This record gives sequence, structure tokens and C-alpha cells, in this order.
Amino acid sequence: MIQVENLTKRYAGFTALDRVSFEVAEGTVVGFLGANGAGKTTTLRILSCFMPPSEGCARVGGFDTVRQGHEVRRIIGYLPESVPLYGDMRVDEYLRFRARLKGVTAAAAQAAIDRVVSRCKLTEKRRNLIKALSKGQRQRVGIADALVHDPRLLILDEPTSGLDPDQRLEVRHLIAELGADRTVLLSTHILPEAEASCSHVVIIHRGHVVASAATTALANAEGHWMLVHSGAPLSNAPENHYDAVTDRSSIRCTTQLDAAAMASVAVVAGRQVLELSCHRRTLESIFMDVVGGRSDLA
Ligand SMILES: Nc1ncnc2c1ncn2[C@@H]1O[C@H](COP(=O)(O)OP(=O)(O)OP(=O)(O)O)[C@@H](O)[C@H]1O
Ligand SMILES: [Mg+2]
Repeated sequence: MIQVENLTKRYAGFTALDRVSFEVAEGTVVGFLGANGAGKTTTLRILSCFMPPSEGCARVGGFDTVRQGHEVRRIIGYLPESVPLYGDMRVDEYLRFRARLKGVTAAAAQAAIDRVVSRCKLTEKRRNLIKALSKGQRQRVGIADALVHDPRLLILDEPTSGLDPDQRLEVRHLIAELGADRTVLLSTHILPEAEASCSHVVIIHRGHVVASAATTALANAEGHWMLVHSGAPLSNAPENHYDAVTDRSSIRCTTQLDAAAMASVAVVAGRQVLELSCHRRTLESIFMDVVGGRSDLA
């Protein structure tokens, strides 16, 4: 659905993106992760034809974002980082205006508005002036706008920014629902959220892609098994398997088979096996590793 090849963007001599390449397969929900200033918004703006790259190319649905911008715009719904809205319009007026701009016929517009207003939980506010909405409600109008022409690809720049925890959960569910029949690329700082809603993640750091994988592959690859038994270290357990911070009765194994083997060794040696568990690393700790432990993350 998306192919990005060697995308480079320079702002007045500053290189914000440096030969960024990644792909997004049709039907996946992909999280685009990175610290403040990593280049997420820059990439998403190029993908949504908001601005051209300095070098490299991006294709969306097979169309080039520079030469075939019209075709690209037709198939994407884009939620920008700060949503520009007309405060003096009512929610449904604004959505009708946006739907018509995006080529939805007058006859189809009402049903399209009803659908997105209900999906984005704006039914009670549909006759309100946009300037009288809360920040989170305005964010939901932005999401409704991105959805109103039923696009095949949704590009969402921090969709849950400014939402309360309840609404965040709602939007997470909405994204999962939307991801069932379309492709979604979303940027976020909230790593557990990416872990929950995204099948794949792309991590960008200072304009470079530093990781790109299925979310489970990334987390599983770094997992380990832990066997906790009573008593002193086992004579036949490799020394470096012992967890240095404990009282030397816990053994760290890299595979389930190793852990099972060590459990039998412990039992044969007359020890009590207190725990055998699998510890998967969180996306957050992997992220901190690949971006070098930077602390400027929300
Ligand atoms: N219009 C611009 N002119 C000059 N520099 C810019 C411009 N837009 C972005 N930059 C710079 O490019 C880099 C990447 O910015 P970008 O907005 O893509 O980051 P981001 O990953 O979206 O960050 P955040 O998480 O804070 O939204 C930053 O160093 C930023 O200062
Ligand atoms: Mg940004």
C-alpha cells in the first residue's frame, strides 16, 4: 500500500529525513514511532502530498506522491498533527463541506456524515459550533473528517493526542475496527498504545529508520524464560544463566526448551521449582534501546 524509498527531506540545510525506506502492506495497522523531532510528521506530510521530498520517492496505492497527488489524495484520509478547523461552522456543516470537497456526492453525503458522527461519538455535538468544542472533541472531528470519504488508507498523526484516557481507549478500539477493512499508518508517542493497536511498527530516530518489524516479532525476539527455584545455584546450570541481581536461585533461559530442561535439573537436585515464566520485553524497552535511551519521550 505504501512504498517509501530513500526519502530525504532538508529544511533550509537541516536534514530532517535521511534516506528513509519502509513499506506498509495493504490491510495492516502500522505504528510510526519516534522521539520528538525524529521526523514522523515530516514523513506523514510527504505521504499525504502536503509537501514534496528533497530526494527519494514515496508511492501510495501505486501512485507517486509528487506526480500523482490527485490520485493519492483520493485514496487517503489524513489527520494532521494540529487539526485546522473552521470554528464558526457547526460539526455537521463542516463534515458536509469536507465530504463534498473530497468528492462525496450530495446524495451520499448525509449517510457518510451520519456514519462518521456516530463512529467518532459526536452525535450529541453535531449541531454545535466547532469553536465551542473541547480539544478532544475537536480531535474527534478531525478523525471524522479523515474518514468521511471512506478512504482505503488512513494516515493519522498522533490520533490520541489531547484525549482523556477513556477517549484514548475509544479511539484505540476505533482504530482496531477501522483496521479490519483498510490500511492505517499512525504516529504515536504512547508505546503501549502502539503495542495494543498496531500489527507492525516502524521506529524512526533522527531521520533514520532504526527498526521495522511485526510488533510481536520485535517483542518475542527479545523475550526470555525465567525459572525460579529454592536453594543454592545448581551445579550443572551454566554460571552465566544465573540472574545476577537475585539470590542466585533464578535462572534466565532464552528458550522454552532450555527452561524446561533446567526445571528437570532443579527437580532432580531436590529443589522446589517456585516459578517458570515467560518474560516478553515491552515495545517501550526495545524502543529505548534502539533510540539510545533518550529521555525526551512522553
Ligand atoms: N517547516 C520546518 N522548517 C524547518 N525545520 C523543520 C520544519 N518542520 C520540521 N522541522 C524539523 O525537522 C525535524 C523533524 O520534525 P517532525 O515534525 O517531522 O518531527 P516529529 O517526529 O513529528 O516530532 P513530534 O513527535 O514532536 O511531533 C525537527 O528537528 C524539526 O525541528
Ligand atoms: Mg510530529
